[in-house]
Amino acid sequence: MNTINSRKVSTNKLDEILNYYEYKKSNLIAILQKIQEEYRYLPEEAMIYVGTKLDGLSPATVFGVATFYAQFSLEPKGKFEIKVCDGTACHVRGSMPVLNAIRKKLNLKEDQLTSENGLFSLETVSCLGACGLAPVVVINGKVYPQMTTDAINIVIDTLLKEES
Ligand code: FES
Repeated sequence: MNTINSRKVSTNKLDEILNYYEYKKSNLIAILQKIQEEYRYLPEEAMIYVGTKLDGLSPATVFGVATFYAQFSLEPKGKFEIKVCDGTACHVRGSMPVLNAIRKKLNLKEDQLTSENGLFSLETVSCLGACGLAPVVVINGKVYPQMTTDAINIVIDTLLKEES
């Protein structure tokens, strides 16, 4: 697991979130969303902490909920979350070469989801409902239509420049 952009979990911060949601297990999803917002993923120690603080729950239950919902990530995400659509239309129109170009550009090894500098994370998603724009890449919610390997390299270079 890439831990470069992992932030140390603060029990004070977790208590602040739990307190806001009144330590209610019915608010578990919202609590996990808030924790993910804070750390960009769900750190294991945070899930264990939540599981011991909410009545009637266990860390195993919290972990089960976190793994059930696709919105939750158990690994650190980058500042820029790149999603490459690999639905049928995008696949047919070249999403895989775009994905491979991103992997190469970010120097991501097999199964590595987040770049070493912690700036970028990469995942494939199923149809985003914008098939007419295929192949589609989404970065932090912004849609990049009709991507090519050259275009995605330019986009990433631009983001890197903005960060430097
Ligand atoms: S297949 Fe990619 S947007 Fe539909």
